[in-house]
Amino acid sequence: MKLPLKPTHSDELAQRKSDHIKLSENARTHVSKLDGRFFYEPLFFTHPTSETKWSSSFLGFNFDYPIWVSSMTGGTNHAKVINENLAKLCGEFHLGMGLGSCRSLLHDPSRLGEFKVKKFMPSSPLFANIGIAQVEECVREGSVHRLHELVSMVEADGLVIHINPLQEWFQPGGDRFKVTPLETLKRFLGQCSYPVIVKEVGQGMGPKSLKALLELPVAGIELAGFGGTNFTLLEKMRGDHLSSREGFIHVGHSCLEMISILNALPERNKEIIISGGISSMLDGYELKSKLKRNSVIGMASAFLGPALMSYEELRGFFLDQVEALLTARASLELREEG
Ligand SMILES: Cc1cc2nc3c(=O)[nH]c(=O)nc-3n(C[C@H](O)[C@H](O)[C@H](O)COP(=O)(O)O)c2cc1C
Repeated sequence: MKLPLKPTHSDELAQRKSDHIKLSENARTHVSKLDGRFFYEPLFFTHPTSETKWSSSFLGFNFDYPIWVSSMTGGTNHAKVINENLAKLCGEFHLGMGLGSCRSLLHDPSRLGEFKVKKFMPSSPLFANIGIAQVEECVREGSVHRLHELVSMVEADGLVIHINPLQEWFQPGGDRFKVTPLETLKRFLGQCSYPVIVKEVGQGMGPKSLKALLELPVAGIELAGFGGTNFTLLEKMRGDHLSSREGFIHVGHSCLEMISILNALPERNKEIIISGGISSMLDGYELKSKLKRNSVIGMASAFLGPALMSYEELRGFFLDQVEALLTARASLELREEG
């Protein structure tokens, strides 16, 4: 019987065999390097192709892959190109995206162009972003309508609110909260008709905060866990701080810990963006498999460099990540649930 083998040039084959002999001595992995998180199931595997999708539904939108571009930029000179490239990616592959803080627009709409990217992703969710300090101020002044105007100004489908007390404490001239974020959220959410997602900025949240969030009328929670970009550290690098504060840079909760907390809490129909230090799709796949709630994998800083370079660069980076995610889904299963 003639097998339908792909024709391989004999020189190429010989070269490959010769490479194998030369390289094999250094191509050994010690058993201590085994990544034991998964069962590896080669008998059930087919290679993903460019047609393969991981169709998902999140916040009522259809995604081709369960991936979210976490809030990053706006209000600075590179922001327009970064946001446009990221939004084009979300438009082409049906992903969701959070804009960076839109605070500047509250006082000066001259930079609106940097945030006006909905046209690139008309059928995918785009969320505006604001800090809890600004929400507190608007609630106190009775001017919550300014936040509603902000959301409609950037043509967003909802609002991400970031809760960042330690970042503010470290930031030169940072805001101080006069009431707790929980109280502010309760008062704000009662006056708001669009979906709201609440996130940290790289240090995650503990069990009491997660439980309180699940009980609020928010659409979702973005973990923004410890292990990746850490804005308290970043603000420390920008300013001159007393050493007594330094320990606060290292407090917080990883995504893994937050996922086990969430799994032990009642469902409450909240959707989750798993983010904070996701630099490998093996990690993303592991965390998504562990969480017993509808979720997408969020990344911020990993997208930044490629988005700044060009759309082609960003697209290539993304496709590489997606292939890794799909390969993980096709070949690996979590060893342990929960
Ligand atoms: C350059 C940059 C700017 C960011 N700006 C914001 C912001 O304006 N609002 C916000 O909620 N989070 C902001 N973040 C935090 C991210 O959304 C995310 O929570 C954090 O970076 C952790 O994800 P990562 O480890 O994938 O970078 C920013 C992150 C980066 C890298």
